[in-house]
Parts: sequence; C-alpha cells; structure tokens
Amino acid sequence: MEWSEYKDNGVDSWKEVNLIYSAALKQIQTKMEILNDEFQHVHRYNPIEHIKSRIKTPESIVKKLKRHGYESTIENMIKYVNDIAGIRIICSFTSDIYRIASMIAEQKDIVILSTKDYITYPKASGYKSYHMLVSVPVYLSDRNTETKVEVQIRTVAMDFWASLEHKMHYKFEGDAPEKIKEELIECARMVSDLDARMLSLNEEILKLSMEKRM
Ligand code: GTP
Ligand code: MG
Repeated sequence: MEWSEYKDNGVDSWKEVNLIYSAALKQIQTKMEILNDEFQHVHRYNPIEHIKSRIKTPESIVKKLKRHGYESTIENMIKYVNDIAGIRIICSFTSDIYRIASMIAEQKDIVILSTKDYITYPKASGYKSYHMLVSVPVYLSDRNTETKVEVQIRTVAMDFWASLEHKMHYKFEGDAPEKIKEELIECARMVSDLDARMLSLNEEILKLSMEKRM
C-alpha cells in the first residue's frame, strides 16, 4: 500500500494510523465493558449482549476515498474517512440502545461529533441502528490525539437482519433482484415487530416478578 507523503497531526504512516485507531477502539471497548459490569452490579442486568470491533482495511479506505474523489493520503483518510475504527454494540432491547447511547454521551472525555437515529428513521432498505460518530483522546508518549470512532448500536434482531442484508449487497454488488429487496423490507418490519413485542414481554416479566417479591 502506497500512501502519498504527508505529515498531519504528527501521523505519517499507515502503521501509526493503525496503532492510534486500535488504541481508540480499545478505549471505547473498555468503557463499554465497565458500564456493562456496573449495570450488572446495580440493576442485576446486562444491557450489552456483545461487542464487535474492527479497523477498516487499507483497501476499503482507499476505495472510499476514491468514491468521494479524494487522493489516498494519510491526511485525507484521517479527515474524511469517519469509520476507520468501528465498534458495534449489540443489545437485547431497543430501550437498551438509547440507554447505552446516553451513557456514552455522558462520558467526559468522549466528544459526540454526530448521531444518526436509523431506529426512529429507518433507511429505505429497512436498515435500523443507532449511529454515533465520537472522538476519544489517545495518549501517546509524546502527544495526545483526538481519534474518531464510529459506534453502531443495535439489537440482536437488527444485527441479524443487517448481516444478511449486507451479504446480499455484497453478492449482487448493489444490483439485487427486486423480489429479494422486497422480502428484506418485509423482514425488517418483522424485526421491528419482534423487537417491540420482546420489549413489552420483558417489561411484563419484570413487573410480575416485582409484584411477586412484594
Ligand atoms: P458509508 O459510506 O457506508 O460508511 O455510509 P455513511 O457515511 O453515509 O454513513 P451511514 O450512517 O449511512 O452508514 C454507516 C455504516 O452503517 C455502513 O458502513 C454500514 O456498516 C451501516 N449501514 C448503513 N446503511 C446500511 C444498510 O442499508 N444495510 C446494512 N446492512 N448496513 C448499513
Ligand atoms: Mg462504513
């Protein structure tokens, strides 16, 4: 991988970029695990089912820069590619999503750069998820650097849907048969319905178990 020579914010190689973004991912991951452990301790309940994280490959960074008409430089990737570091937080219920999002927003050293609520406003594809673009400070031996991380928060059911839809996109390279797209939109409706029913069932279970204790 050839990157045009450029030194920005002290970063001058892909290796260094990789190191910084990996550090940022570790920070967010640890913060989420701490919140989950504390939630378990206080409420006897884990809002997070599991966490997945990834660093975008140099190939797909170059592809994205090209798609937006930018040259492949370190400066451009840091500036224009917001999802070099990505973390996906999977939870059980829709209510957990907003709970986690507000816990992230309350962390003093995390800056929320933007949010996209594809749960209240799903995409035309049927895609649902809550996205946050955040920045976290990464402390190196000689400087600090604010590093962007894309956070996606969704339920297990939304995640199941998104991975199949992603696979379809990949297989047909964006040119999927109408029939399959329609089926997926129908499945997205079923996912929303399932999430809503599971949430109200959970609330009912909690209510009944509280009454039993009284
Ligand atoms: P990208 O250029 O794809 O990163 O999109 P964007 O910068 O306009 O941001 P957006 O919030 O739309 O999407 C960010 C990420 O969310 C994508 O890289 C996917 O991981 C996920 N995503 C967004 N839309 C869809 C969708 O319709 N289906 C699936 N499976 N994933 C999606
Ligand atoms: Mg992306």
